[in-house]
Amino acid sequence: MNERIEQLLEEIRQAAAQLKDDAAVEAYRIAYLARKGKIAALFDELKNVPKEEKPAAGKALNTLRQNAQTLLGDAVAALAADQTGAAAGVDLSLPGRRPARGHMHIVSQTVDEISSIFRRMGFSIADGPEIETDYYNFESLNFPADHPARDMQDTFFLTKNHLLRTHTTPVQVRLMEKYQPPIRAIFPGKVYRNEVISARSHVQFHQVDGLFVDRDVTFADLKGTLVTFAKMYYGSSLKYRFRPSFFPFTEPSAEMDISCYLCGAKGCRVCKHTGWLEILGCGMVDPNVFASVHVDPEEYSGYAFGIGIERTAMLRHGLDDIRLLFENDMRVNKQFN
Ligand code: DAH
Repeated sequence: MNERIEQLLEEIRQAAAQLKDDAAVEAYRIAYLARKGKIAALFDELKNVPKEEKPAAGKALNTLRQNAQTLLGDAVAALAADQTGAAAGVDLSLPGRRPARGHMHIVSQTVDEISSIFRRMGFSIADGPEIETDYYNFESLNFPADHPARDMQDTFFLTKNHLLRTHTTPVQVRLMEKYQPPIRAIFPGKVYRNEVISARSHVQFHQVDGLFVDRDVTFADLKGTLVTFAKMYYGSSLKYRFRPSFFPFTEPSAEMDISCYLCGAKGCRVCKHTGWLEILGCGMVDPNVFASVHVDPEEYSGYAFGIGIERTAMLRHGLDDIRLLFENDMRVNKQFN
């Protein structure tokens, strides 16, 4: 019996390999699987098998029938796949086509890279509204009404009291209103200025501001953090310097320059032949700002800084026109994959 089962299995395997059309499939089914097929015939002969061999023989026959059915199912599925391919005019042997994949815009990449450096130094990420009040954008930051400092920022006013924020600095006031020190956060976002669009300025761009307030925060802490940032972002061998500057909300205020890595500080178009690149503004939080948020300047001190995102991306990638970052010319965008 076993031998005959083996033989039939071999025959069925060979037959299954020849199932090239529907007619062959039907013939196979009738020959082997139908009620009068060869497998059924073997089942009939089970009654002649000696009693002790019956269970094993029955089991082997069941396996044979399952195999015959699986082979049939596979052949039918293969035929169906062939037909769909042919009907749709699809050549399944062609190599696949890669789907077009997008990538982050260079401005977003720059925000992410800067954020990740500050996060590693323990800063959290905060957010604030793009439509601000005069109070948060100017007054609380120690820009007195009618003070010429307001002219530093050409503002889009929406109403007498509402405007598109000209910098991300107002988020520091919102944070200090909401949380008690210690506060250590950066706040990236969009800012707006009523400027003539040119290679150097745009009406909408991005900044990331930072704030650190705690007991005993000093200018040395500010320098340590910002030098670490600059080295991580621009390269560890750079030279740097802090120049005195003025912002209404910091005292003292400074701007940070790094040696021009494009020309090795020899002087080039990008550093305007000075050998230095200005990368950010910073300073110690002015006591008047602390007063507007009821933080005691006797107990706490803090530093703040502001970085222009487009400027940073342009310096890092040697771009000479900010408009390249906003026109969505794919020839430009694709270079920053
Ligand atoms: N808000 C300033 C600007 O838009 C940049 C800035 C300078 C932000 C110094 C700061 C800072 O937080 O401390 O030009």
